[in-house]
Amino acid sequence: MLPLSGLSSEQESLREIASRFAIEKIRPVAAALDERAEFPKGIIQEGHALGLINLTIPAEYGGSGLGIFDACLVIEEIAWGCSGFGTSMVANDLALTPIKIGGTEDQKKRFLEPVVSSGQFASFCLTEPGAGSDAAGLQTTIEDGGDSWIINGSKQWITNAGYASQFTVFASHDRTKRHKGICCVVVPRSTPGVSVGHHENKMGQRCSDTCVVTFDNVRVPKDHMIGGLGDGFKIAMQTLDASRPMTAAIAVGIGRAAFDHALAYSKERKQFGSAISSFQGIQFMLADMATAVDASRLLTWRSAWMLDQGASASVESSMAKRMSADTAMQVTTDAVQIFGGYGYTKDYPVEKLMRDAKLLQIYEGTSQIQRVVIARELLKG
Ligand code: CAA
Repeated sequence: MLPLSGLSSEQESLREIASRFAIEKIRPVAAALDERAEFPKGIIQEGHALGLINLTIPAEYGGSGLGIFDACLVIEEIAWGCSGFGTSMVANDLALTPIKIGGTEDQKKRFLEPVVSSGQFASFCLTEPGAGSDAAGLQTTIEDGGDSWIINGSKQWITNAGYASQFTVFASHDRTKRHKGICCVVVPRSTPGVSVGHHENKMGQRCSDTCVVTFDNVRVPKDHMIGGLGDGFKIAMQTLDASRPMTAAIAVGIGRAAFDHALAYSKERKQFGSAISSFQGIQFMLADMATAVDASRLLTWRSAWMLDQGASASVESSMAKRMSADTAMQVTTDAVQIFGGYGYTKDYPVEKLMRDAKLLQIYEGTSQIQRVVIARELLKG
């Protein structure tokens, strides 16, 4: 665990709990789960018992009731252990935040409490086979079926879908309206017409469960819609604003893990009669790696802190996500370089970190989409 001053004693003990969980429960099994692409349901449920999932869901609905800043402290530790766990353990926050943002009190009681209290999983269903970066171009439809809504369409790359009991689905009631036609609706997994595909065989974060979810004439009661007709896109964007710092914290955890391994190895590995850490070429790499991870954490903390103050932080969240994801990719690549040929094998931990880091530049908005969000705001001024 990285020693940091300035955190409160509550924050330090929160980090301590998450760090111990990462060291004792996650690190020992991470490589084997990666090899088998196996979802660690039991271990995550142990994390639930410690309050390490549903971090930002208010305590009155059974969550840990943390602010986004404190959630980032926990997530960095978990992702330091293994980012596949990080992604899996933060997915409920992503799926349930739309209900927190746009739901009525009655909806919060019905759609947050049962999932959160009993340690179930929920999934955020925005992305589709033909709509990734262009979220407003989604094709899943929602029609008025009298006493219910009827949903048809397919969602792709859905985290935890294989284990989720509830889906937060974004669908259009009028595709000609683009983002103004998008609605947000809660769909229980048990609803007839819902089907979930297989666990995707991914390059990295292989223990995190990622599936296609299909909705075939799925009917849900009218009061399952979160917000009104056409409110869904803004709810999704506000959710991503809140979630991107937490994803950035996953990237910081990966970068820190790669740096830790590279630093330790550079002191052990001898070439030309000396530890390679005595060579300035390696020292400069280590200095740049540590600086970039620290800068990423600071951007992450700034965006999280702003959101906790109730400020709008789309640009700051995108800056944090962009910087941290690209840093994780660079730092893990450098760690493999420092390990040399050994780093390129599965006998050492850094090749997994490099594969895991790549996903950070793709999900929850690619690094290019983060630049779009940042640049649009800069150009407005
Ligand atoms: N908060 C509130 N409102 C927002 C907003 C925000 N952050 N961003 C945009 N809006 C509003 C705009 O003000 C605009 O409103 P008006 O109609 O009132 O003017 C409306 O939404 C449309 O905005 P844009 O014109 O900017 O929309 P766009 O179609 O050009 O798209 C985009 C913007 C930023 C590119 C968006 O499509 C986007 O974020 N794409 C990436 C999607 C993404 O991140 N997907 C990840 C899925 S989740 C995942 O990967 C998680 C996982 O499972 C691990």
